[in-house]
Amino acid sequence: MHTPLCRPLHLAFLFLLTLPAAAELPAISTLTLTVDANAPGKPISTDLVGVFFEDINYSADGGLYAELIQNRSFEYSPLARREWTNFTAWELAPRGGRGELDVDGAFPLHPNNPHYAVLSVRDAGEVALINDGFDGITLRAGENYRLSFFARRLYAGGRWDGQKSASPLPLLARLETRDGTILAEQTFSINGDIWVKLSATLTPTADAPAARLVLIARERGGLALDEVSLFPAKTFRDRPNGLRADLAQTIADLRPRFIRFPGGCLVHGDGIPNFYRWQDTIGPVEQRRQQPNLWGYHQTVGLGYFEYFQFCEDIGAHPLPVVPAGVSCQNSGHTGGTGQQCLPLAEMDAYIQDVLDLIEWANGPATSTWGAKRAAAGHPAPFGLKYLGVGNEDNITPGFRERFELIQRAVQTRHPGIVVIGTVGPAPDGEDFERGWRLADELRVPMIDEHYYKTPSWFWDNLARYDAYDRSRAKVYAGEYAAHDDKRRSTLRAALAEAAHLTALERNGDVVTLASYAPLLAKRGHTQWSPDLIYFDNSNVYPTLSYEVQRLFGNNAVATILPSTLHGIPLDLAFSTARDTTGDLILKLVNGASTPRSLRIELAGFTRTSAPATLAVLAHPDANIVNEDGRPPAATTRTETIAVSPAFEHDLPAHSLSIIRIPHTP
Ligand code: AHR
Repeated sequence: MHTPLCRPLHLAFLFLLTLPAAAELPAISTLTLTVDANAPGKPISTDLVGVFFEDINYSADGGLYAELIQNRSFEYSPLARREWTNFTAWELAPRGGRGELDVDGAFPLHPNNPHYAVLSVRDAGEVALINDGFDGITLRAGENYRLSFFARRLYAGGRWDGQKSASPLPLLARLETRDGTILAEQTFSINGDIWVKLSATLTPTADAPAARLVLIARERGGLALDEVSLFPAKTFRDRPNGLRADLAQTIADLRPRFIRFPGGCLVHGDGIPNFYRWQDTIGPVEQRRQQPNLWGYHQTVGLGYFEYFQFCEDIGAHPLPVVPAGVSCQNSGHTGGTGQQCLPLAEMDAYIQDVLDLIEWANGPATSTWGAKRAAAGHPAPFGLKYLGVGNEDNITPGFRERFELIQRAVQTRHPGIVVIGTVGPAPDGEDFERGWRLADELRVPMIDEHYYKTPSWFWDNLARYDAYDRSRAKVYAGEYAAHDDKRRSTLRAALAEAAHLTALERNGDVVTLASYAPLLAKRGHTQWSPDLIYFDNSNVYPTLSYEVQRLFGNNAVATILPSTLHGIPLDLAFSTARDTTGDLILKLVNGASTPRSLRIELAGFTRTSAPATLAVLAHPDANIVNEDGRPPAATTRTETIAVSPAFEHDLPAHSLSIIRIPHTP
């Protein structure tokens, strides 16, 4: 895809790449990579490879968040999607009885959760309220599922009978297949005239790819129901209100050094009222304030800040929350780029306090006001927040500048240890990019967030992008990037362009300190943006070839770049030569050519005449391949042991990423 002849020369620190005149280009077999294996090297960021999680493509509700009931608290609304109502995903089905389903708000469970369902039975006989989950509820035989809901008896008997009856009302909860086969059931008795939480463990007797939860009332009366929830008992690390184990494990397998969340455009929202406000996402789930998702659906925020931070801790990743910079998305309100709204300056003090409260919530002692809320949620120890994103891809307008500066100054004054990450607009160049960088220089912002969704050839052509970055300016977080190939498919060509890019980021890891592919997750049938790193449905996870590249880099993270020289520079070969924190020597080599390459590798200062090394290779002769759902991956990483010496020949297959790891011996 890329045009090999236009790739610029690398001039990174400690690198000597000598480009002979075209006429003198050596035969392919004479390529020599010389590595100064004993040099102290250049220390780089050990947090480089991370992930960026945004609730796009049904990544949270219906995705990573393990809740199986859709619209569990009857808060869906046409503000999120035109055709949605409080009963989206729910259905009333008379089964012998006659009844009604209403939405009400007179006795809300909590002001943040204003609506609930009223299920009434007029003529005794079964009346069922059915939830279809997110495209059906996937159940496994013998596994435990925790059902819970809040209920309140409104009246027993007829609604207008004129006097209160003390009789309890029965409610039968069932897991059923779509054709009505009962998989598990439990009867409850609703006694009180106040909200009570009821729960049970249900164990299905058979596997079901698309089951339903059926709540059956059968006696005359009226019941209020809210926050109807069904969770697999097995969540990731068995966390209550936790994450889908297989998806979370797939992310953990990347060994990301950080997780950026909760967005993206989701953060600055569709207008000021739609800002993602972190403090609305903590505490009991039935008390969290839900809202429409800028990506056209609903956020329960059941996966909220506590759950994000807990996940980070569980997988050893730094949390990197992003807060709005006091302005909304410039695309707010269907304006196509002219809709940035600025929070009134009179409200900025309170807003800044919210940001400072986040830091106290994450890092403060359990005795502090916000640290106490973290402790009450089950985490008395601080989470150790280090990075804080302020803004995302905002237009760098005067309104933005003013608000960003207020937030940045307050955070840096009160919490000088926090690394504020600013934004330089949506593109890797252009007006916002230039203005954003100027602002970062003026305010001495410690790190800025660059984004690029570009063709594979752009990545190859820009391998030297950071070689020339001024090391005295802000550090860079490559917060969103992905190679967009033809038809935006996750081809091997795209994955290798990203691999080449990552070698360049490693070589420049003194200035580029964090990097994350975007977006991370996409649910089949609800994908709004392509390509994504990991696709999934209710039962399966489908990692892409780009995922495999990220996994290989995450599992071969480095800490020190070693000087190296590639004689006879080919224009579609990218490399990094480094040591990890344990001293292992790691060579990463990306061959973007459609022909194999033979390379002589000289390890200056390496004295062992023959040493074992591991070689991991991701390769395929056809760069157009993509992983297909339900089929074996189009290319897998082959691992073998090889022998290395102070000078050895090594073949790079066509279209390949090769990683040679030579264990450190003291
Ligand atoms: O990653 C998808 C979107 O791309 C993000 O929300 C936004 O920051 C960017 O435009």
